[in-house]
Amino acid sequence: MRDDRRRHRPGAAPAAVVAGVGGHLPPDVVTNDDLSARLDTSDDWIRARTGISVRHVASPGTATSDLAVAAGRRALRSAGSPRVDAVLVATMTPDHPSPATAPEVATRLGLGDVAAFDLGAMCAGFVYGLGVASGLIAGRAAERVLLIGAEVMTSVVDPQDRSVAVLFADGAGAVVLRAGTPDEPGAVGRVVLGSDGARGELLKISGGGSRERRSGRPPVPGGEYLRMRGREIFRQAVERMTDSSRAALEDAGWKSGDVDGLVAHQANARILAALGAELDIPAERQLSNIAHTGNTGAASIPLLLAEAAGTGRLAPGHRLLLTSFGGGLAWGATTLVWPDVTPGH
Ligand code: COA
Repeated sequence: MRDDRRRHRPGAAPAAVVAGVGGHLPPDVVTNDDLSARLDTSDDWIRARTGISVRHVASPGTATSDLAVAAGRRALRSAGSPRVDAVLVATMTPDHPSPATAPEVATRLGLGDVAAFDLGAMCAGFVYGLGVASGLIAGRAAERVLLIGAEVMTSVVDPQDRSVAVLFADGAGAVVLRAGTPDEPGAVGRVVLGSDGARGELLKISGGGSRERRSGRPPVPGGEYLRMRGREIFRQAVERMTDSSRAALEDAGWKSGDVDGLVAHQANARILAALGAELDIPAERQLSNIAHTGNTGAASIPLLLAEAAGTGRLAPGHRLLLTSFGGGLAWGATTLVWPDVTPGH
């Protein structure tokens, strides 16, 4: 029998509970054939090695905040209330190096002078954001938090780098979290987080920061682009998401067989298959939309939640295991029983 440890103790700190969800994909799409027309690659190679067929991309002039506002608005509608106390935008592609993107998003959403800040944990940003939002709610600094993952990954992709250009794409997803109890549907379990700065080189944008600016040397051409050591990243992604997922399951008192849906960062279909095999969660209990979204960085998990809730793939009461991994390295995992929420339009 399942040993569920999500019992509420009187007087305990409030838990973060999902109250709304929304996603936004920009309308323009790029197919594998479009990429093959300008790069030495093919539809067959991309499908076989990544599982991606098509991805959405922001039109020229569209920035991360534009996608974030669209997803955030939908999540607020889904939650049935425009009131929040804090806005977190998880992104590695902010509109500007400074200030953060979140204050602009909060203002454009008409949320007033609420707390607003960005969170940088690359593709692990949404799961890190769940941890931070849980902390804000547990510490009673906020009762309601809008957490958005939003990226214009195409703004940091070298169009000539075929190994990166085929993977990354644009989008945004958001959840509203409210104060509640750990035993109610939607309550975010303990968020297991980790990092490994010794492997920061595996996925990195090396230019544009204080390291380069204070080096006394001119900027390195192409330093503004994301560089990746694909094979090592692949291995690390599987290992770190597996380990953190096991820790999150253990904390919840769940076994692999209790999980109705594995909601992992949509990095590569082969990474998802390897992760599922490690965790003993078969494909039919994994949620995936990478075939038509590509890797949307910090947006991938909330986008997937919004889409799956909209199609009915995700139903109230489903026990979910969320896990993500990104450059830093940074990773995390948590558990969640899906609540009765309908994505906002
Ligand atoms: N089309 C055709 N060939 C490509 C290619 C592309 N888009 N990208 C790379 N290749 C080539 C390589 O140049 C290499 O050629 P070589 O053998 O002549 O040197 C060959 O394919 C194999 O490269 P390798 O990197 O070993 O392939 P792979 O099976 O590891 O697949 C990735 C490459 C990028 C798809 C894979 O490593 C991957 O998905 N890694 C994780 C990436 C990721 O998820 N990053 C984000 C984490 S948040």
